[in-house]
Amino acid sequence: MSVRRLDPVQPDSFVFTAENLAWAKSTIEKYPPGKQASAVLPILWRAQEQNDGWVSRKAMEYVGDMLGMSHIRVFEVATFYTMFQLSPVGKRAHIQVCGTTPCMLRGAEELKKVCQRKIHAEAHHLNADGSLSWEEVECLGACVNAPMVQVFKDTYEDLTPEALEKIIDEFSAGKTPKPGPQTDRQLSAPIGGPMTLTDPALYSDTRTFTRLEPPPPLETPKTT
Ligand code: FES
Repeated sequence: MSVRRLDPVQPDSFVFTAENLAWAKSTIEKYPPGKQASAVLPILWRAQEQNDGWVSRKAMEYVGDMLGMSHIRVFEVATFYTMFQLSPVGKRAHIQVCGTTPCMLRGAEELKKVCQRKIHAEAHHLNADGSLSWEEVECLGACVNAPMVQVFKDTYEDLTPEALEKIIDEFSAGKTPKPGPQTDRQLSAPIGGPMTLTDPALYSDTRTFTRLEPPPPLETPKTT
């Protein structure tokens, strides 16, 4: 995990496009009066998407003004969550490699080496043409499919170094690789298919059920 500070080089302004502004207004209306600040995560995320994958200081101030929040409150949110990037990232892909225990035990270190070899030796640095970058982050909530990476809002799971190399090559070529497990596994189902509840009789129309009555309540001992 890196120190999360605002980038020293900042653009002079930020405003939503007309389309994003309309979307932001309709999103804010979903929250009760006085609770608009609760929309800070989706609105900041949209600002990040518009701004090539990172939030500038002006973007955070713009979102704060839109939601009636002091700027420091928006800075606190953006610097806390690693879903927000505080410096420019690769325009085609910013690879977030999960390095927490389940992913580490399943090969995250090898995935980091792929990123170092194919993108940049150091995290948070752009590759030569500015199209790719990477970093290590904490658990991204897909441990059952470890090891995995996240690229913007998609996750790529059940990775091997070879599979990640292929994904990076596709992003580099301007394509969007198919997210999800990179094996024939169905989502997070067991590898090789289901191992429980496999008896077809369980799903038969003729199956009957016997109602089990609950036991009678225990008698309360009498006190003298
Ligand atoms: S430890 Fe990697 S997704 Fe949870």
